[in-house]
Amino acid sequence: MSIEDLQRRAAERLAPPVSAWINQGAGAGTSTAEAVAAWDRIRLLPRMLRDVSSVSTTTSVLGHELATPILVAPSTVQRAAHPDGEVATARAAAACGSLMAVSTNVGTPFEDIGATGVRWWLQCYVLRDRGLTKYVLERALAAGASAVVLTVDTPVTGRKRVDGPGVWDFLPDDILSANMPGGRADALDKADDLTPDTVGWLHEVTGLPVVVKGVLRGDDARDLAAAGAAAVHVSNHGGRQLDMAVATAEALPAVVAALAGTDAEVYVDGGIRRAEHVLAALALGARAVFLGRPVHWALAAGGASGEGGCEGVTELLSGLTDGLRHAMMLAGARSLGELTPDLIWSRR
Ligand SMILES: Cc1cc2nc3c(=O)[nH]c(=O)nc-3n(C[C@H](O)[C@H](O)[C@H](O)COP(=O)(O)O)c2cc1C
Repeated sequence: MSIEDLQRRAAERLAPPVSAWINQGAGAGTSTAEAVAAWDRIRLLPRMLRDVSSVSTTTSVLGHELATPILVAPSTVQRAAHPDGEVATARAAAACGSLMAVSTNVGTPFEDIGATGVRWWLQCYVLRDRGLTKYVLERALAAGASAVVLTVDTPVTGRKRVDGPGVWDFLPDDILSANMPGGRADALDKADDLTPDTVGWLHEVTGLPVVVKGVLRGDDARDLAAAGAAAVHVSNHGGRQLDMAVATAEALPAVVAALAGTDAEVYVDGGIRRAEHVLAALALGARAVFLGRPVHWALAAGGASGEGGCEGVTELLSGLTDGLRHAMMLAGARSLGELTPDLIWSRR
């Protein structure tokens, strides 16, 4: 089943305001609308006669061995897509040898996610109240988080058309705040005074590597690597923050170039819907890609069986990984290390 079919079936199954809330972007939705098209514009230059009888999609990310470079982006309200929500996603990521980033604004206790055995990272919104931020970090650490993903594109939440009671009436009260003391949603007050020094603070509090998510510029990437970031995640938040922010397929090359010669890894998300998009992202220099909305669609709509939940997300991750292996054979690449920029066609 294609991801477009998955999206269509999810829209049929979900309450319309919930589906619209998941799918929408901020502002006029320009960045969201452009994300997939930016990957689709890329053209490939496949290599022939490279003995592709043995092709591997295995990789390592921050030293974790993974079976696939296709990972789960942090996102809220997964329980709105399926009652098992984040726990279903975690089981699927574990079954596929993938990895899951878990939002601060999550509707499932970190302990339940950790208990699945998945490798997971905490996506941290640093809160105005740094004491409360420490509480979240320590709770995640105790539940087995192995890195912190600092989201930096959200000093203030992007304005979206579908919001307010129309959506939240459909959802349980703690859908954003299951890990706040007492499930207090009002505790989620994001800080707007972050600087690159926040990277060092997060590392000091947790002892974990820090990934910085939401970077679109080479100069920011370089500053963050100098501030100690272990990885830079190129993202415009699925178009849900600054509308008209550049598509990640367009921003990725400058960030990769800026980090050349450093140890920092580069990841990307936004509009990745096909195996060829994954191949192009890796050829452009990303070490891994993350999926946002498709995980919600798979939770709601499932795969061939139509089951949804864990089965749906497993089919999504394993289907795309299988598609990547197939595309690698056609492109003459036997390992992810052989996905290099010469595979990208350029008019010049
Ligand atoms: C419903 C929804 C909730 C999200 N919540 C978060 C979040 O809590 N923290 C975060 O860093 N990004 C969040 N994101 C952004 C994703 O991590 C990711 O950057 C984006 O969805 C990738 O684009 P894609 O949906 O086109 O794959 C959310 C995205 C969606 C669609």
